[in-house]
Amino acid sequence: MVLDTVLTIIFVNYQTSNEVKGACMQTMAIIGAQWGDEGKGKLTDLLAEKCDLVVRYQGGHNAGHTIWVNGQKTVLHVIPSGVLHPHCLSVIGHGVVLEPENFLTELARIKQVTKVSPDNLKISSTATVITSYHKLLDAAREAQGSEKIGTTGKGIGPAYEAKVSRRAIKVKDLLDKDTLVRRLSNGYAEKAIIFKHLYQIDFPTIEQEVERLYRFGETLKDYVTDSFGLIDQKLSQGKRVLYEGAQGILLDIDYGTYPYVTSSSTAASGIFTGAGIPHHKLEEVIGVAKAYTTRVGEGPFPTELHDEMGTLIQQKGNEIGATTGRKRRCGWIDIPLLRYAVKCSQLSSIALTKLDILCGLSELKVCYAYEVNGKTVDCAYPGINLYNAKPLFKDFKPFNDDFTGKPSQELQNYINFIQEAVGIPVGIYAYGPDRNQIVFRKDYF
Ligand code: IMP
Repeated sequence: MVLDTVLTIIFVNYQTSNEVKGACMQTMAIIGAQWGDEGKGKLTDLLAEKCDLVVRYQGGHNAGHTIWVNGQKTVLHVIPSGVLHPHCLSVIGHGVVLEPENFLTELARIKQVTKVSPDNLKISSTATVITSYHKLLDAAREAQGSEKIGTTGKGIGPAYEAKVSRRAIKVKDLLDKDTLVRRLSNGYAEKAIIFKHLYQIDFPTIEQEVERLYRFGETLKDYVTDSFGLIDQKLSQGKRVLYEGAQGILLDIDYGTYPYVTSSSTAASGIFTGAGIPHHKLEEVIGVAKAYTTRVGEGPFPTELHDEMGTLIQQKGNEIGATTGRKRRCGWIDIPLLRYAVKCSQLSSIALTKLDILCGLSELKVCYAYEVNGKTVDCAYPGINLYNAKPLFKDFKPFNDDFTGKPSQELQNYINFIQEAVGIPVGIYAYGPDRNQIVFRKDYF
């Protein structure tokens, strides 16, 4: 089905602010259903065409959302993936952690490919700032800690720690030097001891960091707004809002495979705290999953392939982190983990991506359950020790589609099995990086 028709169906009935309420799809979320890197950026970019707002609600520049348009690659880290549609307002919500220098570099890069200005890009005044100290702390812990997480090294965890300990700097603080001095002085003595005596690394003085942050604040001030008020206003005007998740549900600070997680709420619950719409229901929550599984960094991974097949998928799928350049670990698709993800975020449909990578493989497997202590388990509840979970596989006849016509029976069998196993429709599947390499299977949107 032609994309435009599908999008029309998605948002059919949208006409005026009053008519829209309850009558059509006004709010939609795109969330990673695995350990990140599922292809959320491409989907967000595609659906953003018919949206008024795209809102990032958590994470920071640890994300790497890759979008291909007519053979041209754009990688977004903290700027929402709706930015390639200038009519669409991109909002960095208050649940995001923002590194101002990185943001400005990304902004300059994106300005070369599309029109971006304070008219179509906004940053929450209460988003948390990632400082130099957070980046140094993240790197030092990873280098010297005994239980490595394999973080992206961007300062994400320490910035969220600062927020929770009520010592963070907010974006609005960048605009006032006195506030910056006051906020940075809070806890500085503690930091100095840690950097000097524990990690023995150089670190900036308060004055140096204030100068640096204030300079960035001056440059980005026109983008700063009250994002809660803005989203609230747009929702009440009946505007269509797309919430763009970063990372994946299995990396969620609460639902994920702790401690091998990121420090934010990547699941749908993060939307309510990180964008600020507790009063507004989500009408569609799309969980994006690769047709296989990947993971970057440490942590359990029951279906991981340590053999030639794992290497083949890694190479064919170009499974290299868009942010860190690290090779991603690869394995077969894991239904117990997907079932868990569906429950965590009340996913209403699945978008299955990168099916082309599985084409022509000599074998094809789906993990439909685990064996744990002699019992068969079909959902990866957090009580299960995933290191102890033996994956049970069902073999599938490999497909070899070129995706120009009707899907082969083998491909249909694979998709239908996944759909039935997770209990929600596979509404979308993608078979390449470009905007048009996608199939909308159902009109149920
Ligand atoms: P952090 O978010 O940098 O603290 O990293 C914590 C964990 O989340 C590490 O295992 C990272 O590899 C992983 N992670 C963070 N961001 C992403 C992402 O965008 N894609 C995939 N994994 C990520």
